[in-house]
Amino acid sequence: MTDLTWWQRGIIYQVYPRSFQDSDGDGIGDLQGIIQRLDYIKALGADIVWISPIFPSPMKDFGYDISDYRGIDPMFGTHRDFDALIAAAHTRGLKVLLDFVPSHTSDQHPWFVDSRSSRDHPKRDWYIWRDAQPDGSPPTNWISEFGPTTWAWDETTGQYYLHIFLASQPSLNWRNPQVQAEMLDTMRFWYQRGVDGFRVDAITHAAPDVARGDHPENPDWHDGMNPSQRLLKAHSKNQPFNFDIVRMMRRVTEEFPGRLLLGETDGTLAEVTRYYGADMDGFQLPFNFALLDVEWTVPVLVRTIENYVAALPRDGWPTWVIGNHDCIRIASRVGHDRARLAMTLLLCLRGTPTIYQGDELGIENADIPADKVQDPWEIQVPGKGLGRDPVRTPMPWDASNGAGFTTGTPWLPVAVPRDGPVSLQGPGSVVDYVLQLIALRQGTDALLRGAYRTVTATDDVLIFARDGADQTILIALNFSDHTQPAPSGDTLLSSHDGTGPLAPHEARILRAH
Ligand code: GLC
Repeated sequence: MTDLTWWQRGIIYQVYPRSFQDSDGDGIGDLQGIIQRLDYIKALGADIVWISPIFPSPMKDFGYDISDYRGIDPMFGTHRDFDALIAAAHTRGLKVLLDFVPSHTSDQHPWFVDSRSSRDHPKRDWYIWRDAQPDGSPPTNWISEFGPTTWAWDETTGQYYLHIFLASQPSLNWRNPQVQAEMLDTMRFWYQRGVDGFRVDAITHAAPDVARGDHPENPDWHDGMNPSQRLLKAHSKNQPFNFDIVRMMRRVTEEFPGRLLLGETDGTLAEVTRYYGADMDGFQLPFNFALLDVEWTVPVLVRTIENYVAALPRDGWPTWVIGNHDCIRIASRVGHDRARLAMTLLLCLRGTPTIYQGDELGIENADIPADKVQDPWEIQVPGKGLGRDPVRTPMPWDASNGAGFTTGTPWLPVAVPRDGPVSLQGPGSVVDYVLQLIALRQGTDALLRGAYRTVTATDDVLIFARDGADQTILIALNFSDHTQPAPSGDTLLSSHDGTGPLAPHEARILRAH
């Protein structure tokens, strides 16, 4: 049997740098702070640290609006800090992934400043400019991810530019070969500096095809939904050229042995699996967001898991995620009582899991008072629950003022989980369970590579098997509030006491007889 690569065996841990650890008292996390906490990540048993953007940015979208792809925002530190972080991670056997944001820059990026300076500027075509319609309205009816139209009018040059997200995040024109060359070279720059790969942001929006015109109405849309879903993004998202762009990125990645591309691939199952590439020349790991969106019931989860497993290309390695900096906290979504169960599902399915910082602690969505709201999405589309501040709160390291996160005033309030801050979490806490779960997973071949098989799926209980070469591991998850019959086998780990019938919300891992 072939060996698994580091990214097939490893667990990805997402660090949201603003909220991980502050080292200089400004209330915002930074690179030196991450270095201080690498031992925590290592002790947890994760292997791969993905860090959300750390590049110079006006922070209109908290770093996802980049004004210099090769710099480090002074808020986070310097190149020297970055080099120290890579060295400190590698010394501990941890890999580091940076966030790469190809689909748009900040409007403060010098390229855009040039592009908007005149219609004749050589960089005009680096972005997507179009004339108004005869009545002055925007070129298409497209709606941006964060609310209003995707088109912003530029008074000076008398044209609209495209922005899929905020107006301060103009879309790059990847059909321009100079843009391709520059962006691909940026990847080389960071590879040469030692990064082990990239999480590629918003790739599905990198090749909008304006010539295809208006988007059709979404027949399923209703008033309570996210306004950006009122139209089907038939011409802006997952266009054929997207897959060519990914191939270009992969070719560059192959210039540097042993590196990884993890794509933010949101779409239908067919679209997501297409990102592996026709010849496995796309992303090694196209994110599989299925578990983030679906109803948290056994029948729906089983269908979702089985459909994904069946749709994977023959050589496609699976990947799973249940939380990130854009989505409701898993412990809030499924309920605190089922936080351990959810982590068990994430860590026992076949494929590379990603843990969002704090989910290992059972952190729940925070209440953000109106005067503390930071997220532009909440500001543009208020009151619909779209704001992402509640899931971006700083890590609660200890019981001191500032929670060990900062000596200053944290940029968002710290959310302390029910089991208390990290320093007070002992036996019986969520993180104590997750530590054992990760140790078991990483030490059990059947959990790392064994095939997935549904054993029992009722409304209350999901039991699945991981069939390894020499043993079968059973994972029994009781979704109900009642005890349920347990499968027979030797209990290896349980979120409860692990004997007799399954307790309400219990997750139990067994070696089958
Ligand atoms: C991705 C990021 C999100 C950001 C958006 C625009 O979806 O995860 O946080 O707002 O891209 O860059």
